[in-house]
Amino acid sequence: MIQEEKGYFVLSTDNSSYIFRVLGTGHLDNVYYGKRLDDLTGIERLSTSGNLFLATIPYYDEEHQNLFPEIIRSEYPTPLKGDARESALEIEGKRGIESLTLLYDSYRIFKGKDFSFPAFANADEKTETLEIKLKDELLPIEVLLRYTVYEEEDVILRSATIINSTDSAIKLRNAASLSLDLPYDDFNLLTYSGAWGRERQEERRKLLSGIVVNDSKLGVTSNEHSPLVFLERELTGEVYGFNLIYSGNHRETVEVSPFGKTRVITGINPWLFEWKMQSGESFNTPEAIMTYGEKIEDASLSFHHFTNKYIIRGEWQYRERPVLINSWEAVYFNLEEEKLLALAEKASELGFELFVLDDGWFGSRRNDRRGLGDWYVSPEVFPDGLGSFSEKIHSMGLMFGLWMEPEMVNPDSELYRKHPDWVIEIPGRKAALTRHQAVLDITREDVRDYLYSSLEAVISSANVDYIKWDMNRTITDLFSSNPSCHSNGELQHRYVLGLYELAGRFTERFPEILFEGCASGGNRYDLGMLSFMPQIWTSDNTDLYQRMTIEAGTLRGFPQSAMGAHVSASPGHQSLRTSLIENRFDVAAFGSLGYELDLTKLSELDQEAIRNEIAFYKKYRKIFQFGDFRPLSSSDPELVFWSVTDGKTTIVMEFIKRMLPNTGKCDRLIIPFLSSDKHYRITNRRIIIPKEFFGDLWPQWNKEENEVFECVVSGDILSKAGILLPPRFMGNGLQSSISPVSDNGTRMYIIEEAQD
Ligand code: GLA
Repeated sequence: MIQEEKGYFVLSTDNSSYIFRVLGTGHLDNVYYGKRLDDLTGIERLSTSGNLFLATIPYYDEEHQNLFPEIIRSEYPTPLKGDARESALEIEGKRGIESLTLLYDSYRIFKGKDFSFPAFANADEKTETLEIKLKDELLPIEVLLRYTVYEEEDVILRSATIINSTDSAIKLRNAASLSLDLPYDDFNLLTYSGAWGRERQEERRKLLSGIVVNDSKLGVTSNEHSPLVFLERELTGEVYGFNLIYSGNHRETVEVSPFGKTRVITGINPWLFEWKMQSGESFNTPEAIMTYGEKIEDASLSFHHFTNKYIIRGEWQYRERPVLINSWEAVYFNLEEEKLLALAEKASELGFELFVLDDGWFGSRRNDRRGLGDWYVSPEVFPDGLGSFSEKIHSMGLMFGLWMEPEMVNPDSELYRKHPDWVIEIPGRKAALTRHQAVLDITREDVRDYLYSSLEAVISSANVDYIKWDMNRTITDLFSSNPSCHSNGELQHRYVLGLYELAGRFTERFPEILFEGCASGGNRYDLGMLSFMPQIWTSDNTDLYQRMTIEAGTLRGFPQSAMGAHVSASPGHQSLRTSLIENRFDVAAFGSLGYELDLTKLSELDQEAIRNEIAFYKKYRKIFQFGDFRPLSSSDPELVFWSVTDGKTTIVMEFIKRMLPNTGKCDRLIIPFLSSDKHYRITNRRIIIPKEFFGDLWPQWNKEENEVFECVVSGDILSKAGILLPPRFMGNGLQSSISPVSDNGTRMYIIEEAQD
């Protein structure tokens, strides 16, 4: 709900209020963002702007000696008018950076949403938007600020449009999507950083005076710093969450001022950015989202609900995602039709639903040094074409999926030789390469047309149900031969716009196909891609221990349905760590499940385990993919508990990082969100543990399965005190009541309402 009263704008969601007002001078001043307020009597007492004295700080003008831009809680700050914090907007005019004062002009409130950046959040009849028009007090430059309120999801979507009504061209140097000033400075900042193979590791730091920058300069969202950030108050544990619907260079600055305030700005990274705006032109920023929650789990759930409902769209929205087998780690580039069919045959026998043909099926691509860009089916691999192969897969009862990497080219390819100017490289300079490949200049329409027509022909020639859209390097050597790209400063944003145009063409042409984004694993894991493709490959690293932290970080901001999660071989191809397939499954089950290993080489017992895992996953798939995910707390740092629930059935995974013997205690499971007035039956998932796991101790255990656990407990106990799980093996006493589990071991518990 959005209301305007006496110059106050009040935006309400089910659990939060966002309030700002217009000062007498026309400045916007944020008043409150936090737990929902219903009675606003005395709201004037919430803002100090215009009432304070500050020493040696510039005031607005002689008539407003108490109005200090430095402490106004601005909604879209500009530089050089006394606010020395980071600004949301920087415009270069004839004399360089302009000093701007944006003042209120007018507002509109309307149902739904009437603005669309190419990657965007949907709206519906429940959604309302407030648009505020600001004008500079001197130059004819206008800014439209938009706030779309998603009540049930506790999310507010923000964006801005900059309009150049001057009579000459200007240059945009910075145009943020969202700026928010909070009146506190007791925050911890949570960020999600890493690199290939260790994406989105949660880092928590206490904020002190000054600026923290979280950004990407790689041309993609990057695995180095996700645009997802949270601010958590030390005093109360309350959380503010932010994310950006964009897939290129982004920047989040968080600034603690000397005057007890914290400013968050998110948007396109102003680093090397510039955008020429002719007279009369406007520029739309990407959209950003923010949420408020009493604790981080609430903020995460708000982002999950919002993403499933308003970001993910099309035929696969809320549709259960198929269990897939991917050929990459099974055979890498050694593609032979017979071998692939044997893999598919085995997959079909074990209960799989989708076979994905990964890299290597096209042009001269027999290894990663050549062929990228030549999008025709290789007759060497598929002499009868892809149509015939896909029919063979379908005849086994499996759907058929295909990998592609449209944005890339190997210098050793027909495409590169024919169109060297289609590549982002600087003429006369040696360009940097990654994995022997260069980036195509998809700011150019002719490049996009080629990619669309060649790949559309391949896809139409076969019966394709799924596409993995990969992107295996970042952007360097800025130069475009595209004349409408005015400068290198425009190139990276134009690249993202080109990407969205191309992705939109494919997803509109093939609405029934399930698309999965990918960029060397999770190098472009963002809401922008998710608005085109319902899921993204999370990381190339499928090691269960490392996956646990990667998935935990990812799930802070993105729902399980969007998180591609695979079980692969042991020892792991990224870690050389050995583990049980049942434990690897437990970690992967919290996303959209797949397997990526040679099924034909597995022992009978591992095959049996996979058959059981897939059957179990299918039974609870809706809960795993679309239920409410919450990590549960544990006082033992060696334990991790994850839960998913649909309100009736809850599934909990326990992950034991390191086994410590002789602790004298059992692991305690507390599920705080269960109802005190119900009873629950708890059972554990029965798993297969091969004899070799026990080594010399085998004679003592003597069965290839885990412990049996079953009990009925009141919700009162379970939600407050918790229950003790079976004692773990601790050096002796391998009996049936003991849980034989070791490092990186897992157990899955199913909690269902018990009929008394
Ligand atoms: C990237 C992807 C992998 C796989 C390979 C194929 O690394 O992340 O999943 O598709 O490319 O080359």
